[in-house]
Amino acid sequence: MYFKFHSSSISNRKEKMMKGVKKADVGYLKEIEKARRDLRALISAKNCAPLMLRLAWHDAGTYDANTKTGGPNGSIRNQHEYEHSANNGLKTAIDFCEEVKAKHPKISYADLYQLAGVVAVEVTGGPIIDFVPGRKARSKESPEEGRLPDAKQGASHLRDIFYRMGLSDKEIVALSGGHTLGKAHRERSGFEGPWTRDPLKFDNSYFVELLKGESEGLLKLPTDTVLGEDSNFRQYVELYAKDEDAFFRDYAASHKKLSELGFAPTSWGSKVAAKTSSILAQVAVPIIVAGALLMLIQYKESFIHAHSVC
Ligand code: HEM
Repeated sequence: MYFKFHSSSISNRKEKMMKGVKKADVGYLKEIEKARRDLRALISAKNCAPLMLRLAWHDAGTYDANTKTGGPNGSIRNQHEYEHSANNGLKTAIDFCEEVKAKHPKISYADLYQLAGVVAVEVTGGPIIDFVPGRKARSKESPEEGRLPDAKQGASHLRDIFYRMGLSDKEIVALSGGHTLGKAHRERSGFEGPWTRDPLKFDNSYFVELLKGESEGLLKLPTDTVLGEDSNFRQYVELYAKDEDAFFRDYAASHKKLSELGFAPTSWGSKVAAKTSSILAQVAVPIIVAGALLMLIQYKESFIHAHSVC
């Protein structure tokens, strides 16, 4: 009864907010919602949330604000781009996304990869990130190799790369918290191991571990270590280590910005996304939290048994 009441109230509100949105756009938004559900199931079945997040970040992280090239445009699907050495291992994630694309061919690759990143964070217990659809179809133009950060370098390199995208020191630190998920694979990057004790749970433990220094079995890339050394970066590391809510708030805002670099959302896209997220926040949060918890339990079990297929 409780659920019925809420689901009808959601659909009434959805109907209201769809007024004034073109029919074709309504169709696209419905596909996005279906794709979101399919991505949740796929990520759970393949146990690949970290790899999906890395895919979304590497598609977006090539953005150059001066030339307005690169960015979240789906171009990582071009063979010569996914073969850039920084993208080692991501072909697997691109292939997984094909399963969803085949069911929802209208959705652009650019939207699909960014939606996969947002879902990966949500289903591992991270913040709900506002997703605005409407990125153009995959770009045939790929940026030159070398736009993504080199893990062996230091603070000035990190700033060069992220300032080029138009991002700030705070956003560098918040986004680096993405390493709360997953692990490095020697055969892909030359580095090995997870950053945290529970690499399938999105929380603030990346920052807690960073402040502890070296820990047996855990990885710190040179670009991670530098966040605890540079005073302007360190203030955010300290904040996020003690205040997970602050991390979730800043991470969600920074991730949204990263996922929209060079993309001017249409008014219908942002209007509907904003209203959808406010409805989700008011009405559906308990349902999402319960779903995410169930998936986390599944992830943990399959991680223990399969130790991450991706
Ligand atoms: C700050 C500069 C960054 C550098 C230098 C960097 C570098 C790396 C490296 C070397 C790996 C290991 C790849 C492998 O061997 O499989 C990795 C993995 C990963 N990165 Fe980053 N990264 C950075 C920022 C980010 C950001 C901003 C995000 C997301 C918001 C992110 C998300 C991930 C995830 C989730 C993995 C684990 C993938 C897996 O388990 O397969 N990284 N990163």
